[in-house]
Amino acid sequence: MCGIVGYVGASAPSSRPRDVVLAGLSRLEYRGYDSAGIAVATPGHDAVALAKKAGKLVNLEKQLAERPLPESTIGIGHTRWATHGAPTDANAHPHLAAGGRVAVIHNGIIENHAVLRDELLAEGIEILSDTDTEVAGHLIAREVLNGADLATAMRSVAKRLEGAFTLLAIDALEPDIVVGARRNSPLVAGLGDGEAFLASDVVAFIDYTRDAIELGQDEVVRISKEGVEVFDAAGNPIEREPFRVEWDAERAQKGGFDSFMDKEIHDQPTAVADTLKGRMDDQGRLVLDGGIIDPYVLSSIDKIIIIACGTAAYAGMVARYAIEHWTRIPVEVELAHEFRYRDPIVGIRTLVVAVSQSGETMDTLMAVRYAQRQGAPTIAIVNAQGSTIAREADAVLYTRAGPEIAVASTKAFVAQITAAFLLGIYLAQLRGNKYPDEIDALLDQLEEMPAKLQRVIDESEPVRQVAKDLVDERTVLFLGRHVGFPIALEGALKLKELAYIHAEGFAAGELKHGPIALIEPGQPVFIVLPSPRGRAELHSKVLSNIQEVKARGAKTLVIAEEGDEVAAQNADHVFYVPAAPTLMTPLLQVIPLQIFALELAQAKGYDVDQPRNLAKSVTVE
Ligand code: M6R
Repeated sequence: MCGIVGYVGASAPSSRPRDVVLAGLSRLEYRGYDSAGIAVATPGHDAVALAKKAGKLVNLEKQLAERPLPESTIGIGHTRWATHGAPTDANAHPHLAAGGRVAVIHNGIIENHAVLRDELLAEGIEILSDTDTEVAGHLIAREVLNGADLATAMRSVAKRLEGAFTLLAIDALEPDIVVGARRNSPLVAGLGDGEAFLASDVVAFIDYTRDAIELGQDEVVRISKEGVEVFDAAGNPIEREPFRVEWDAERAQKGGFDSFMDKEIHDQPTAVADTLKGRMDDQGRLVLDGGIIDPYVLSSIDKIIIIACGTAAYAGMVARYAIEHWTRIPVEVELAHEFRYRDPIVGIRTLVVAVSQSGETMDTLMAVRYAQRQGAPTIAIVNAQGSTIAREADAVLYTRAGPEIAVASTKAFVAQITAAFLLGIYLAQLRGNKYPDEIDALLDQLEEMPAKLQRVIDESEPVRQVAKDLVDERTVLFLGRHVGFPIALEGALKLKELAYIHAEGFAAGELKHGPIALIEPGQPVFIVLPSPRGRAELHSKVLSNIQEVKARGAKTLVIAEEGDEVAAQNADHVFYVPAAPTLMTPLLQVIPLQIFALELAQAKGYDVDQPRNLAKSVTVE
């Protein structure tokens, strides 16, 4: 959840470490924005210089404008999503130890911090914050004061920590290195020309280099101007193959939009098109991005479980309808945090598909590990290259949506659905559920989707206007049936997280079993209406549901297929999307709901990229 960045490069003290660290923090702010802080070290000084402030990065920047940091050769910085301790100045990272000689930053939760804290207090060490992090800082400082170099100190302390952590540390007396360690929390190193970087995400240093190294579990890293050295837990050097980030710095900019979210909504046609590119080889096999699952294993699976959280889980729900229909394999979709605690029936014939934008969601990662322990083959549908879930699953299919910076997921969602569809089509072909011409037809239909997404975006003015008109609403309901059901859930989630108003998604058929009691005159209800050309019986059933809420005074906002005039007769507002095959309509129907939430939140004056209390990547359980 927190974002961390470290930099080494300048031979002589300069402002570059500070500038690189602050630029990295602004890119990582999506990971948390409860506080921000920076520490730099300058040769000849026996303590680091520190600045930190509660609130968003802008508060720290204001403080630095009044009280600048000295020029330096190295720096580390942190943007926080609070776990242990309130979001105050005192609890902001970095934390100092050994009289300011050592500074540490941390992402994760150190589960045995209370025991370690007692140990330090018994030694008379003063602990100034409520965080678990400061404890690690004092432990590292103790090693350093006993004569260990910083990398050795980090390694021996990491062994004592339980839980999840990425830790970075600097020592004022070693002002030419930054040291890091990780367990169950991300850390990547960037390879620059005469400089090196450490960060939670490559986006922090993408302006300077696209060459990166992903750190493995329980590894320790030491960066200097000479490069990046990686060690295992025993201190043995490890060779790690660098990877090249597929996208460049421009993809991580707002590109003329007011918010990353608006930009990412507009990126969706490209996200779908890129995810589809070059996916089937001459033999019709799915081209994976890493790892392999034996086709024989895939031919013999008798169940698929999709595990994910939040929006990624809704993408999984959409995929379920298609994969079951195309392959006739039963598909379950389960929230990752529920999955492993209910003693699920998983075995070697269960394919477990983990869906995650970040590839770092702890709940999903733990569910993948659980499935692997049961012997299940696992495949990851992930957006972030080199992320932990992507590396640990047996195979990975990247979604190629490019960096998603806004906390609310948009383009990752449509790319996840697309990738899961590809998996379903491949399985259908492999197992002979579809003839080659049927497979070709499905792929052709998918290829037509990016242009249709583009049209929905280009024609979104009506939904933007309605959102502004509904700015004072206190609750909005969303109804959908079949593949429209997960879209109703996703529409409600977007509105909750961005506009902070109560929103609830229901299966339209469930309405009469209780939720209809919520309808009062004027209650806005979004309804995702299936195509009349697809499954006509679903269309007419949802039309009846519209009538039911309308009869009780609801304001009906209907997402319908172009040309569906009956929809207009039943709606207070209708938002049309192009015609598409039934199973692919969610890729279009979700867009008006994303735009509705964005516009309504903006009309309320909220920060749509960084909604309150949230973080982009949830790396705690
Ligand atoms: O990185 P992941 O896809 O694993 O994240 C899963 C959820 O935390 C994420 O989709 C979350 O629900 C978003 N804030 C939704 O907009």
